[in-house]
Order: sequence, then C-alpha cells, then structure tokens
Amino acid sequence: MRYYLAFIMAIWLACNIASDETPPVAASATSGSELYIRYCSACHGTDGPARINGATNLRQSSLDSVRLLKIVREGRNKMPSFKTQLSIEETSEIVSYILMLSKKE
Ligand code: HEC
Repeated sequence: MRYYLAFIMAIWLACNIASDETPPVAASATSGSELYIRYCSACHGTDGPARINGATNLRQSSLDSVRLLKIVREGRNKMPSFKTQLSIEETSEIVSYILMLSKKE
C-alpha cells in the first residue's frame, strides 16, 4: 500500500512539474531584442546601422528614453507608428534595447 501511494505521488509530482513548466514559456514577455528583430530590423537592421528606407542609425541616436518611446508609439515622417502593434511594456522593452545599442559606441 505504501509503495502504491508513493507511486501515485510520483506521478502527481511529475504532472505538476510538467504543468508548472508550461506557463512560463507561454507567458514569458518577449525580450526587447527579439521584438526589435521582429518589428524594427526590416528598416533599422539587426543591430541598428542598416538605414534601409531612410531609417536612422539607432546606434547613433542621441534621444532619451521618453523621446524614443514617443517616436516608436507615434511614428515620425516615414517611421511608422507602432501604437496598435506593441503594448507600452513591449515598447519600453525595445527602447531599453535601443538605449543599450546606442551606448555600445
Ligand atoms: C518601415 C521602416 C521602418 C520600420 C519598420 C521602423 N522604422 Fe524606425 N525609422 C524609420 C525611418 C524612415 C526613420 C527616420 C524618420 C525621420 O526621418 O524622421 C526612423 C526613425 C526612428 C527613430 C528616431 C531615431 C533618431 O535618433 O532620430 C527611432 C527611435 C526609431 N525609428 C525606432 C524604431 C523602432 C523601435 C522600430 C520597431 C518597433 C522601428 N523604428 C521600425 C523607418 C522604420
């Protein structure tokens, strides 16, 4: 009987561990660099300097986080607005990533 219970416990634990592992993967916030690659690299290049379609070199951007956030939310000239595609959280992830890029030089 004791063995049987231990067996049940082991299965129960295994299931719990398995189901515990799933949510963080699905719910984890996408990092700034991944979002950047997905939404921005087509024009700005994978790490900033590409300047496709007249896009500025983000490595050389001297804008502060507030201005960066505003431009990414609202767009500017040929730079599209990402208000509908990205949440505030996602936008700030990207902004941190750009700030990191521009501090590399
Ligand atoms: C369709 C091409 C395109 C895409 C996609 C794009 N950009 Fe831009 N971006 C531009 C262009 C063009 C400019 C220059 C705008 C201007 O002349 O005012 C620019 C300018 C900027 C600037 C201003 C830089 C400075 O120092 O003046 C920032 C910041 C920026 N983009 C961030 C982003 C981010 C973040 C993304 C992704 C969420 C993104 N861009 C996606 C084309 C694009």
